[in-house]
Amino acid sequence: MVEYASRKVFPFLFLLLISISYTEQLKSSQTQTLLRIKILLNSPPFLTTWKNDTDFCNTEPTPSLTIVCYENNITQLHIIGENGTPRLPNNFSIDSFFTTLVNLPSLKVLHLVSLGLWGPLPSKFTRLSSLEIVNFTSNFLQGEIPSSISSLTQLQTLILDSNNFTGRLPEGVGSLSSLAVLSLKNNSFYGHLPHSFGSLKDLRVLLLSNNNFSGEVPDLSSLTNLQVLDLENNVLGPRFPVVSYKIESIVLKNNRFTFGIPEKVQSYYQLKLLDISSNKFVGPFPVSILSLPSIKFLDISQNKFTGMFFENLPCNEDIDFVNLTSNLLTGELPSCLVSSSRKRVVLYSKNCLENGDANQQPISFCKNQALAVGILPRSRKQKEASKVILALSICGGVIGGIVLVIATFLIIKNFLTKRAAQEQPQPQSVPNSYTSKLLKDARYITQAMKIGALGLPSYRTFSLEELEEATNNFDTSSFMGEGSHGQMYRGRLRDGSYVAIRCLKLKRNHSTQYFMPHIEMISKLRHHHLVSSLGHCFEYYLDDSSVSRVFLVFEYVPNGTLRNWTSDKRGRGNLTWAQRIAVATGVAKGIQFLHTGIVPGLFSNNLKITDVLVDQNLSAKISSYNLPLLAENMGKDHLQNFLGESKEFKAARGKKQERSDIYDFGVILLEVISGKVINSRNEVEVLKHQLQEGITGDDISRKSVVDPVVNNTCSGESLKTMMEICCRCLMKDASERPSVEDVLWNLQFAAQVQDAYSQSSEGSPISPLRSSRLRLTIK
Ligand SMILES: *[C@@H]1O[C@H](CO)[C@@H](O)[C@H](O)[C@H]1NC(C)=O
Ligand SMILES: *[C@@H]1O[C@H](CO)[C@@H](O)[C@H](O)[C@H]1NC(C)=O
Ligand SMILES: *[C@@H]1O[C@H](CO)[C@@H](O)[C@H](O)[C@H]1NC(C)=O
Ligand SMILES: *[C@@H]1O[C@H](CO)[C@@H](O)[C@H](O)[C@H]1NC(C)=O
Ligand SMILES: *[C@@H]1O[C@H](CO)[C@@H](O)[C@H](O)[C@H]1NC(C)=O
Ligand SMILES: *[C@@H]1O[C@H](CO)[C@@H](O)[C@H](O)[C@H]1NC(C)=O
Ligand SMILES: *[C@@H]1O[C@H](CO)[C@@H](O)[C@H](O)[C@H]1NC(C)=O
Ligand SMILES: *[C@@H]1O[C@H](CO)[C@@H](O)[C@H](O)[C@H]1NC(C)=O
Repeated sequence: MVEYASRKVFPFLFLLLISISYTEQLKSSQTQTLLRIKILLNSPPFLTTWKNDTDFCNTEPTPSLTIVCYENNITQLHIIGENGTPRLPNNFSIDSFFTTLVNLPSLKVLHLVSLGLWGPLPSKFTRLSSLEIVNFTSNFLQGEIPSSISSLTQLQTLILDSNNFTGRLPEGVGSLSSLAVLSLKNNSFYGHLPHSFGSLKDLRVLLLSNNNFSGEVPDLSSLTNLQVLDLENNVLGPRFPVVSYKIESIVLKNNRFTFGIPEKVQSYYQLKLLDISSNKFVGPFPVSILSLPSIKFLDISQNKFTGMFFENLPCNEDIDFVNLTSNLLTGELPSCLVSSSRKRVVLYSKNCLENGDANQQPISFCKNQALAVGILPRSRKQKEASKVILALSICGGVIGGIVLVIATFLIIKNFLTKRAAQEQPQPQSVPNSYTSKLLKDARYITQAMKIGALGLPSYRTFSLEELEEATNNFDTSSFMGEGSHGQMYRGRLRDGSYVAIRCLKLKRNHSTQYFMPHIEMISKLRHHHLVSSLGHCFEYYLDDSSVSRVFLVFEYVPNGTLRNWTSDKRGRGNLTWAQRIAVATGVAKGIQFLHTGIVPGLFSNNLKITDVLVDQNLSAKISSYNLPLLAENMGKDHLQNFLGESKEFKAARGKKQERSDIYDFGVILLEVISGKVINSRNEVEVLKHQLQEGITGDDISRKSVVDPVVNNTCSGESLKTMMEICCRCLMKDASERPSVEDVLWNLQFAAQVQDAYSQSSEGSPISPLRSSRLRLTIK
């Protein structure tokens, strides 16, 4: 640091050296001031040479004492006591001390180090308005930095290390426009770093280690001269600080940094030292950091960095120290780190590296741990729980009416389900043959299902901090609703995208290991016609590291439910006939994916039109499906029932379950065709009957069933096909219902017929000949 400071001081010192050659005679008032200072400092031994006849301006500087004068005025005063000097006795008065000191108004450089000074720094200290360099290291100064410090506009270096300062930094620090070095190490400062830091354009060195600073580091990218940043031992985070590319040293050791290393770091070509150890970093470690042109020291130990190393990875020849200990790295240790004649320290134990020492974990450990983030103590969890209760009670007052509506809806729904259960072949709310072992196969998505880029970010783990940030700490304004499967929140990620977050409070304690098969399955639930999964986050109990909550992050689809688009006449608008077929096809494709796109499939999804969301491209997305994790969390009894079933029974049930989704699809299709809201099983029967009559009747009677909004624009044949498939889906006997492939085939046929119909200028019904040709081309 001396190096950095001295560069600025140099021209000034040069001037002083010239001036010293004149024999200065100090004004007597300044001599008196120095003698008074000696007494106030309790006359330490190294000041015994100070007498009333001393020629202060011409004494040889010693390590403990330097005085520099310029034109009869003292401009520099360095008094440096012995290391570990104790506090001055109780009769010391910091106020008298500075009252005396301000009698040296020309002071530009003031070092008062290890003198035992104690008490709060009086704001009159800032009357020394010429100060350029201040070093008060190793005293017992306490309290806050006076806000009047902002008046020291000449200040270039401010060092207050190893004192007992506390409080927040005054925002005025930002107006010290000449500041090049700010060092506040080893104090008890707390609170957020002031945003005004961003205006310290000349700052080159910022050392704030060993304090209690918390929160985000303000954007430092405008500090284009910043070379050294040391934030060690604070509670800062979670985002990696944004600094300019000239940075040479970054120390973030032992904080709360969480999000990955930004890509920008890979362009810090002057970066020599990077110590980000003992944080909560998650995500892949960018291996290109190993080959940064200036890098010499790299410590990423004690984080949760993942990523695969390769033997032939390049690294900087001059790198001296690499500590990768305690991460989740896999692959092979790069040979450029292993084999080197240079004296170099490379530490990498407690990873999952293949050619590493015996102190490595099995690969599965890293894989599983990589899915685990966000450890927090129980006390915090309780605080959050009370927050949620508070949030709910606040909500309660405001949305009481809404709750009533929902309650009514739920009662009707329950009634419907019970009725359906009596009449339908027993739909089950848990899937068949679900075991962890089988779930391992979930990763083998059938190739056919992979087609079609989703345009979604890849599935990943989220940190709790990230979700807290996205939802403003799970604020009421983000709360979307609560169901049997936990609360839903809407969140906004840092990249501006919205997500829906399902928060699942677990009824029973399990380890991360237990959830792995579930997570593996959930991570595969990504399809164009599903509200797809984006990631998850575990929250742990600190005492036994069991999982306390699981957060599942899904796409946020803001455009309303399918019902809003078909039967709600005051709603979003009404879909055309062709759009209705397209949406229905989407739902069927979603069902097909749930059944066959993952192994084992998800059946008995209890699909409802209100659970089908419509995105901005009017594409249907199923938002609620039968996740085993949710079903399991519903209760122990549930699970035992299902585990207790005989194999034969499970096998027999499979097909029926598959077809219960087809029935639900039929009900959705009924609303799509008729444009009528269906609230009861009875209404389903009535409408189904009308449809059946329409099928056997003529065009006119068919069009009387369809939503009047579309009945002028839909082709008769297309309508008939849709009505037929709808009725078949609603068959009482599950085995008579069509397969999902059959449904899809018919929907696609209806779409093509409709397409040809709207293209033909007269709008005349399509000829049977042409339609049979179409049938052939579809397959
Ligand atoms: C401030 O004082 C400390 C203690 O003597 C010293 O180590 C440090 O180099 C000084 N800083 C400057 C910039 O002179
Ligand atoms: C403070 O007390 C000490 C004795 O403990 C005494 O030697 C010293 O002179 C006193 N200083 C002042 C400034 O009164
Ligand atoms: C210095 O102090 C001594 C007594 O301590 C006194 O006799 C002498 O006159 C003083 N000299 C000046 C120049 O004040
Ligand atoms: C020296 O100090 C006096 C007041 O004590 C002031 O008037 C004068 O300008 C100062 N000279 C310099 C060069 O700072
Ligand atoms: C921190 O400051 C205290 C005094 O406030 C001192 O005793 C301690 O040695 C300092 N620690 C370091 C690491 O500088
Ligand atoms: C100052 O800090 C040191 C070390 O941090 C601590 O031991 C001491 O008690 C503190 N003193 C006061 C007066 O706060
Ligand atoms: C930081 O704050 C915590 C609690 O607020 C306290 O226990 C700890 O001693 C503080 N650390 C420092 C260095 O002031
Ligand atoms: C490397 O990192 C580990 C884990 O943080 C730490 O215990 C060890 O002391 C570090 N080694 C060195 C030489 O810094």
